Amino acid sequence: MAFNAGPLPKQAAALLTGKAKVATYESTGGKTTFKFAAHNLALVPAIKPGSTIHDNACGAGTVSRYILQNGLLDVKIHATDIDQPFLDVLAEDAAQHGWPVEVSNQKSEATSFDDAFFDYDIMNIGIIFMSSAGLDATREMHRTLKPGGFAVVNCWKAITWMLPIMLVHKAFRGEATPFPAPPVNWTDGTQLRKVLVDAGFEETKIHLESHEVSTVLDEGEEFREWVEKTWAFLAGIGGWHQVDEEKWDEEVDMLAALLKKQPGTMVEGGKVTMTASQWVAVAEK
Ligand SMILES: C[S@@+](CC[C@H](N)C(=O)[O-])C[C@H]1O[C@@H](n2cnc3c(N)ncnc32)[C@H](O)[C@@H]1O
Repeated sequence: MAFNAGPLPKQAAALLTGKAKVATYESTGGKTTFKFAAHNLALVPAIKPGSTIHDNACGAGTVSRYILQNGLLDVKIHATDIDQPFLDVLAEDAAQHGWPVEVSNQKSEATSFDDAFFDYDIMNIGIIFMSSAGLDATREMHRTLKPGGFAVVNCWKAITWMLPIMLVHKAFRGEATPFPAPPVNWTDGTQLRKVLVDAGFEETKIHLESHEVSTVLDEGEEFREWVEKTWAFLAGIGGWHQVDEEKWDEEVDMLAALLKKQPGTMVEGGKVTMTASQWVAVAEK
């Protein structure tokens, strides 16, 4: 995950430098993507021993960890991403535990894998970050899948915390530099289906559905920490500004307050529950 260059506030640096960035992601957005992975892997036929699997845009291996956690060790997983600190954490854990995971730094749009190499290609919340609105990456998935193999690709549908982040951006950083809108709208599932069809998957062999998950946090310190880490991880999309270091705590407090009022958030019995949803497509080659 790349961040806009700018004066990185010291508070963000503490949460985003080296391995800290991985821990920050895992304890915020990573909790949600792990739940997506669990749901989505149940949509494909059970992974057979001996399968070759691509954990595509793997981060620190959310999909690989889910597969291995379920006791499937007689498989070969190739985990690829372009963010080296994330790959380093996965490679270290794989070496330490003897996991069948080979980690490499590769762009999803152009990989070194042979044609018809994988039984499964799982890209968990990666497609929206790819060039050509996802088409080069889905073409590469189609090329490297075996006939009869499965691609599992998902994108965000709605994220409770995104609008509050934009509002804090506007309140503290002003209107002159609007928070960048995604170049393509992925929120209704149309684009996800389109890039798979354009990449060569048959429309009749694509299953598309939406699915929602919740993050539940204790209302006190746990919620404040989650909000601060989420601000650190996502606010840089709008570019870091001088004001961010000076008013860091005020920004985080405003984000926390807005989040609690957001549709998609429930505050009850000392717990805060926030929802996020995905579109997921399973395509058989
Ligand atoms: C939201 S994270 C998802 C990580 C992981 N799959 C998960 O489920 O938590 C998106 C990932 O896409 C990776 N990414 C973005 N553009 C990429 C590209 N062109 N090729 C490969 N990976 C890319 C980022 O580095 C990041 O790790």
